[in-house]
Amino acid sequence: MKPKLLENTPRCNLAFTPTPFQKLENISRDLQCTLYCKRDDLTGFAFGGNKVRKMEYLIADAIDKQADTIITSGAYQSNFCRIAAAAGAYTGLDVHLILGGNKEPQLTGNFLLTNHLGASIHKVKSDEWRDWENERKSLAEKLRAQGRTVYEIPIGGSVPLGALSYVAAFYELLDDFEQIDASPTHILFASSSGGTHAGLLIGKWLTGWKGKIIGIGAAKSGGTLSEEIKNIANETAALFGIGINPGDIIVNDAYIGEGYGIPTKECEEAIQYFAQKEGIFLDRVYSGKAAAAVRDCISSDHINRKDDIVFIHTGGNVELFA
Ligand SMILES: Cc1ncc(COP(=O)(O)O)c(C=O)c1O
Repeated sequence: MKPKLLENTPRCNLAFTPTPFQKLENISRDLQCTLYCKRDDLTGFAFGGNKVRKMEYLIADAIDKQADTIITSGAYQSNFCRIAAAAGAYTGLDVHLILGGNKEPQLTGNFLLTNHLGASIHKVKSDEWRDWENERKSLAEKLRAQGRTVYEIPIGGSVPLGALSYVAAFYELLDDFEQIDASPTHILFASSSGGTHAGLLIGKWLTGWKGKIIGIGAAKSGGTLSEEIKNIANETAALFGIGINPGDIIVNDAYIGEGYGIPTKECEEAIQYFAQKEGIFLDRVYSGKAAAAVRDCISSDHINRKDDIVFIHTGGNVELFA
């Protein structure tokens, strides 16, 4: 049974859920495996992706706290900032975005969409996430001094409320499995600020699901990301009154390449492979790298081909137009 907390926590309806759950027939045939895809790229709102699920809880909390302004930060091509800008506009809140990067941005992809959404954009000439977050905090202080009621959202919405959305998504996945009588043993997806990963793990611990939840790192080293996931998981688990099992936190950082947002050859190949085999578009920052990992782990028998495997497509393909 689903925990009451999921039903009782305010949520603003933005996403089209349940998202489709499909068997990737051509890829399964090609790799001689059974690969399913959870299409969280199709959450719909403002071009969709995993961040829509998180934003449902965060924007509801902002409204609950009578905020008139939300602030968050990210890279110019941030999917989360696109969704924050859209959710704020949709619910009538002012949105301030701290967007960072050393290079002057071009009006393409997510940055183009974010501009269409009317958010106030504050540029920071730095690639460091810490600088963007510091800027967010000082802007929040300034706006509060002007009498605004500000709701701050850390990078990627990876706070317990954001993670809660992926606890709910985990229950949705179990329903998907049941409907087609599948028994997957591995769930893989792109992991970066850790909220998606933490939420799925809480779902595993709440339900006693036996499979493995494997985050494919898109930005940080496995050690750093695991530690962050542990912290978010701890805070989120406390809401449910359960403990966590750090041994279940699995991060594979072997597919990042030179760094965050820098495409790898394997990622580019995975993008073409998924497009040509299934008509599914991935992105070069997150889902393409995760798909490269899925393909490689199956091809190299790192994951047993006899096991049913789930790839969560977390979206982000707007980036292909960047
Ligand atoms: C498309 C996409 N996939 C995956 C992720 C990773 O999600 P999380 O930040 O919850 O780890 C992100 C985060 O920005 C994303 O935009």
